[in-house]
Amino acid sequence: MKALVYEKAHTLENFAIELVDLAEPALRDTDVLVEVRAIGVNPGEAFFRSVRSAEPGGRVLLGWEFAGVVVATGASAGRFKAGDRVYGTGDMTRDGCWAERVAVDHRILAAVPDQLSFVEAASLPIGSLTAWEAIFRDQDELPAGVDRVLILGGAGGVGSLATQLLKARTKAFVIGTGSRSESKAWSKKMGADLVLDHGGDIAEQLASAGIAHLDMVLSTAKTSDQIGWIARALRPFGHLSVVDGGPSLDVSPLMMKAASLHMEMVFSRIINGSAPERQGSILETVSELVVKGQVKPIVTTRLDGLTPATMKTAHGLVEGHRSIGKTVIAI
Ligand SMILES: NC(=O)c1ccc[n+]([C@@H]2O[C@H](COP(=O)([O-])OP(=O)(O)OC[C@H]3O[C@@H](n4cnc5c(N)ncnc54)[C@H](OP(=O)(O)O)[C@@H]3O)[C@@H](O)[C@H]2O)c1
Repeated sequence: MKALVYEKAHTLENFAIELVDLAEPALRDTDVLVEVRAIGVNPGEAFFRSVRSAEPGGRVLLGWEFAGVVVATGASAGRFKAGDRVYGTGDMTRDGCWAERVAVDHRILAAVPDQLSFVEAASLPIGSLTAWEAIFRDQDELPAGVDRVLILGGAGGVGSLATQLLKARTKAFVIGTGSRSESKAWSKKMGADLVLDHGGDIAEQLASAGIAHLDMVLSTAKTSDQIGWIARALRPFGHLSVVDGGPSLDVSPLMMKAASLHMEMVFSRIINGSAPERQGSILETVSELVVKGQVKPIVTTRLDGLTPATMKTAHGLVEGHRSIGKTVIAI
């Protein structure tokens, strides 16, 4: 099969992803083999391209957001059959979906709702699962007493789905943020009740809106730089959910608020074998919300073809950290 791979970690300027012929993926018992029809491209994958190299003689095949058609099933993957339309993520420790076919554990997939195209479906899995686990954690609801949630980066892939899921599933007052008129308008379109400007002073804007405190902040960008005002804005025993944690994140400002810190890693369940079927079930709920019109796909840029050129364009877009919604490549 054809796949987009590279050997050594590299910068966007030295983009070295190539289309090559690879052996078909080997199926584990719990896997399905999916013919990939559309790929969502994410900033995390561009980051891996810049830091992850193959073992000598090997190659790296990234990509963990797709929609496609099941073409074969492993011995314990009878939940799906050949011909089913599915969407989902994958396992960052295994080969990804920037290929004609991908082997993926059936438990983290769900059926694509009839009304979605493959391109539309591929815009949903990473944002939905990351947002769900960041805000609802391993429960199906917000932590007790959370009525007001601010989503820092409300127009990005995660922020767009977090906003939609909160509005669809809770009564929380949702505050999005953007720094440009287009991103603010998108955050509003996703359902935010109020949209603030993260290019300005958020505390002042909250005060102007008569908002004394936040119960939860979902931070999707530059958390280390913004934790000071986040801690000041949270109420005592409030919650900070972080999806972009890194070594520079100093959480000590949260101490005086006795706040809870929630770290999200979307591959945690599949890597640790911790009830991965929960992710299939979350995506099934997302599918139901799509059918009811309460969650909409977030494709804003469509590229066509499994080629180094389309992938380079997609990497350029996600590395700019200015995405609105999601870039999807149709195969
Ligand atoms: N932990 C996990 O499991 C997981 C899963 C998925 C993603 N992630 C990570 O989560 C982050 C968000 O992912 P994503 O797909 O939502 O990214 P994205 O789509 O690239 O996010 C773009 C958005 O970020 C906003 N933004 C840029 N700088 C900002 C700042 N300083 N403060 C607030 N917002 C800012 C931009 O708004 P403006 O253009 O209006 O400034 C833009 O709309 C990435 O770092 C990604 O790698 C983690």
